[in-house]
Amino acid sequence: MGKLIKKEDAYYPDKEFKKRAWVKDNSIYKKANRDPIKFWDELARELHWFRKWKKTFKHEPPYFHWFTGGKINISYNCLERNLEKRRNKVALIWEPEPKNERERVFTYYDLYRQVNKFANSLKEMGVNKGDVVGIYMPMIPESLIAMLACARIGAIHTVVFSAFSPKALNIRLNQTNAKILITADGYYRKGKEMNLKANADKGSKGTKVKKVVTVRRTNSKIKKKKGDCYWDEVIEKQKDYCKPAEMNAEDTLFILFTSGSTGKPKGVMHACGGYTVQAYWTAKLIFDLCDNDIFWSTADIGWITGHTYSCYGPLLNGTTFVLYEGVPDYPETDRWCHIIEKYGVTTFYTAPTAIRMFEKEVGKVKENLKTLQLIASVGEPINEEAWKWFFKQVGKGNCPVLDTWWQTETGGILITSLPGVGPFKPTFAGMPFPGVQTDILDNKGKKVKANQKGNLVILPPFSPGMLRGVYKNPKKYKKTYFGEYGDKVYFTEDIAYKDKKGLVRIVGRADDVIKVAGHRISTGEMENIIDSNNKVAECAVVGIPHKIKGETPVVFVVLNPKKKATEKDILKLITEGIGKIAKPQKIFFVKDLPKTRSGKIMRRILRKFFTGEDLGDLSTLANPQTVDEIKKKIKK
Ligand code: PRX
Repeated sequence: MGKLIKKEDAYYPDKEFKKRAWVKDNSIYKKANRDPIKFWDELARELHWFRKWKKTFKHEPPYFHWFTGGKINISYNCLERNLEKRRNKVALIWEPEPKNERERVFTYYDLYRQVNKFANSLKEMGVNKGDVVGIYMPMIPESLIAMLACARIGAIHTVVFSAFSPKALNIRLNQTNAKILITADGYYRKGKEMNLKANADKGSKGTKVKKVVTVRRTNSKIKKKKGDCYWDEVIEKQKDYCKPAEMNAEDTLFILFTSGSTGKPKGVMHACGGYTVQAYWTAKLIFDLCDNDIFWSTADIGWITGHTYSCYGPLLNGTTFVLYEGVPDYPETDRWCHIIEKYGVTTFYTAPTAIRMFEKEVGKVKENLKTLQLIASVGEPINEEAWKWFFKQVGKGNCPVLDTWWQTETGGILITSLPGVGPFKPTFAGMPFPGVQTDILDNKGKKVKANQKGNLVILPPFSPGMLRGVYKNPKKYKKTYFGEYGDKVYFTEDIAYKDKKGLVRIVGRADDVIKVAGHRISTGEMENIIDSNNKVAECAVVGIPHKIKGETPVVFVVLNPKKKATEKDILKLITEGIGKIAKPQKIFFVKDLPKTRSGKIMRRILRKFFTGEDLGDLSTLANPQTVDEIKKKIKK
């Protein structure tokens, strides 16, 4: 293994390091920038296509298409494409949370057989190409098998995070009209047995779900309704080959719901062709995946990172990867170190919130973690202290820290330094991935100068793995992503700046989305849930800085006259509406909220109470007296 060389405020890979890397110098950027469409066209050829595409990139603003005319199947690329060379290579190692349970190991051939069998089961249940299948599952191998089986027959999967409440599941199932829901009886989290099937039942009430397939994980008793079945019972009798559907490159592979500024969550749609190309190539070049790597991404499959890097990316590359059921600090704070040591993990991908938690809980890492070669972070800005701790304590000063920026909408990583090129500079994500064009613009659409903050945008030809629309909501697609600078410029809703060398640093969101422990939560959605209660006159939710979680929500509630409610009541509304992940740090009952003369709630002011920033000019407020009242409440 090579060494890192420090120059000024950043680190660079040495010669030895470059030897191992797929990309060893800057020339790939030059080549890609000369003709990004041709660049992606060449990359796409390395995958298996049933039929080659006719047109590489087609732009019909605000829509764009990649590889039209091509026919592909991602499950074929994850499985068959690896069978010849890696039939008996380990694909997936599953680590259960309870330490007294054994791991489960699947070779590429094992996975191939399981996926084929479950694909046949889905067919037998009447699932057809283009149908939507709901997946409400924990971190167990069957979740990945279910995703791949859907993809194999051309069904569209929509995975719902297992910690989401039944109500949140219900909203998502109703938006897609899924008829089949795959779940598990339960799972383990922090030593507790969680009952998932009961939530699945509650969440599928009043939806089109006719059949719930349950994986036995905890072997707890479940209520079996008409049409329900167990996974093992349906899969047992199936043949172990199911012909993969030849999907058009632009057919939808999956829908994943994510939060925006307002209202209901949006169903982000990803396409079969472009997503496969981007998942394969970003995983390969960014994580430098080679045949003897052991890759571990801690991301839950309920989120996009779980889709692309805890499932599809490593499989497309024929990699051995770890999937862990539980929380990384249970039962000991350094459980995650033991997992790295137990399997000889070479590449560790996690989130700043986990890094800060490890730092707080573990401090000095005793284990030498000598197998690690690359460590990476995603989901929210990583502060300098956490970056340095990760670099020194986990990477022991020998592993590049990759800070990877992307979104549910982009399908794969779009900004990060490449391991064989660098630089690795604390808090900077780095350069856009080769073939990706970004810019930072002011509100009028003018490019800002180096070190000046602005809105991060992505320019045509975008990238193949980016979203193709918002499910059943073209207006939202256009307004959210192509509403700021016209229909040819994708607005990320992130604020960023570039340093003089062009390295990008992400500052935070420009909208009302907050990242709580890396989870994307809409303050607008939380407000809607609280407002829907008849005791509440109005409310405001703001994200405030938090040492470990990055951000955390704080709620201000104005009650209707003569109505009473407690913090517990409001908390219940939130946990039932979204889940525990949105639990506020504090709930304040106030008489009024600071508003402009036109009635707009000034959330900015509410946030500043906690950041210690100057409140600014309050003279434009319609009710400046509320500011003092709220200040007193907070101080108390
Ligand atoms: O604000 C950015 C932040 O997470 C948002 C996307 O959230 P989500 O769709 O849940 O996807 C997260 C995982 C890909 C972005 O708009 N974000 C993501 N990665 C980073 C980041 N902020 C700073 N640095 C990052 N590396």
